[in-house]
Amino acid sequence: MMAKLHADHYADSMHQIDTPLKRNDQIGEGTFLIRVAAEPLARTLVPGQFVMIRLSGTNAPLIGRALAVYDVISDESGVPKWIDLVYLKKGTFTTALAESPLDTHVTLWGPLGNGFANRACDRLIMVAGGIGQTPMLLLGREALGTQNFGDEDRANGWSPVVEFIYGARRASLLAGVSDFEQAGFRVTLCTDDGSQGQQRLVPDILCERLEELKDSGESIRVVTCGPEIMMEKVAEACQATGVDCQVSMETPMACGIGICFSCVAQVRQDGPEEWDYKRTCVEGPIFDADQICW
Ligand SMILES: Cc1cc2nc3c(=O)[nH]c(=O)nc-3n(C[C@H](O)[C@H](O)[C@H](O)COP(=O)(O)OP(=O)(O)OC[C@H]3O[C@@H](n4cnc5c(N)ncnc54)[C@H](O)[C@@H]3O)c2cc1C
Ligand code: FES
Repeated sequence: MMAKLHADHYADSMHQIDTPLKRNDQIGEGTFLIRVAAEPLARTLVPGQFVMIRLSGTNAPLIGRALAVYDVISDESGVPKWIDLVYLKKGTFTTALAESPLDTHVTLWGPLGNGFANRACDRLIMVAGGIGQTPMLLLGREALGTQNFGDEDRANGWSPVVEFIYGARRASLLAGVSDFEQAGFRVTLCTDDGSQGQQRLVPDILCERLEELKDSGESIRVVTCGPEIMMEKVAEACQATGVDCQVSMETPMACGIGICFSCVAQVRQDGPEEWDYKRTCVEGPIFDADQICW
């Protein structure tokens, strides 16, 4: 019998808006931050969710691109009004976006995907590589209890300590570091060439931290986003030490709402040998690391 298609995060509650760019600032090498008014999304999204975005009024490119929500900004009365997205200039869409002047209109649809779990722990360690830092700012703030997201029932303040291990090829590619420091996270930086922080790879730093903390008696959670090989190594380190780990998958997406199956990943079901293709846009992009067939 065919398995029934099911996902908890179909886009029934998404909003589609057309909105002008209010910021489009370079914050690192090839890395830009855009700000747009997007109140319906800003009020409802949770950390780890994403939006699909395209340039309004043009078919080049036709298909939207997924971007994680980097920040949510409220007005003076505390109402969430704007969202920030951070992108690396890489190909067709991001190059066109980087060249777009302020007030260029973009079309967004979201919030999409499931978002990170907010399971309580003593210490949350967020591990990011490349442009994988983008979903981490909101998650860390929620964990520390300094910003609320989603509906009133969603718990915040679920981890008293938040660490952020963040690596890139070189210093100029590390983007938004001051945001993470100001948020109160314990930040450890590394670069492949040693131009900033330690000259090591993020999974190696994580392994060392897990070793240091192994007799602490603390419950530790790890979340990770970045190149797949990096996430695989992070997942291995967590599995070896019995640490709860979630990954944010960045498989290329076309529709973002569960229709096209372009975004599938091999995800384990009931046992190590039982897997199925899951759509990362509606069944992810966040998965427990031990579910992923790397
Ligand atoms: C859930 C999710 C969240 C994302 N969040 C961000 C974010 O916050 N910031 C950000 O900069 N990017 C993010 N991405 C990636 C983003 O959606 C685009 O794929 C990326 O910006 C490239 O788009 P482009 O049109 O510039 O490049 P394209 O012209 O589409 O492609 C350029 C090159 O990149 C490759 N490529 C395209 N997409 C991916 C991908 N997802 N993974 C690996 N290789 C790819 C193509 O094969 C090609 O070689 C996210 C992706 C997902 C699925
Ligand atoms: S991007 Fe179309 S099904 Fe996921």
